[in-house]
Amino acid sequence: MQLSQLTGTIIVLISFVLFACNPPEKPKSKGDEPAFKKPPIAVQKYKQLCSPCHGITGNLQIGGAKDLTQSNMSKPDIIHIIANGSENKKMAGYKGMLSSEEIDKMADYIIQFRK
Ligand code: HEC
Repeated sequence: MQLSQLTGTIIVLISFVLFACNPPEKPKSKGDEPAFKKPPIAVQKYKQLCSPCHGITGNLQIGGAKDLTQSNMSKPDIIHIIANGSENKKMAGYKGMLSSEEIDKMADYIIQFRK
C-alpha cells in the first residue's frame, strides 16, 4: 500500500508543478474597454429614423431627401429642420422623438458626412 500512496503523492506534486508553470492565460482585454462598443445614441437614432431617406452615409436621396454630403446648411438650421421638419413637409419634424441634446449630437453627426 505504501507504493500506491507514494505514487499518489507524486501525481499530486507533478500536477501542482505543471499548474504552477502554466498559469491560466490572462484575459487579453484590459478590462476598461467593453468587448463590443455600442455607437452613440445619436448615431443609432440616425440609422433608425433618418437613413431610410438619407441613407447610412447621407447621400441616398430617397423621396427627394437632400444629399447630406453636399449640404452646406448651418448647424442651427440643421437643428431647426430636424426638430420641425422641412418647409415643404416632405420631411417630418422629430422634436417629439428626440431630445434637444440628441438633435444637437445628430446635427454634429450629419455634418461630418461632408468630409
Ligand atoms: C421621409 C424621408 C425623410 C426622413 C425619414 C428624414 N428626412 Fe431629412 N429630408 C428629407 C427631404 C425630402 C428633405 C428636403 C426637404 C426640402 O426639399 O426642403 C430633407 C432635408 C434634410 C436636411 C436639409 C439638408 C439641406 O441642405 O437642405 C437635413 C439636415 C435633414 N434632412 C436631416 C435629417 C435627419 C437628421 C433625419 C432623421 C432625424 C431626417 N432628415 C429624416 C426627407 C427625409
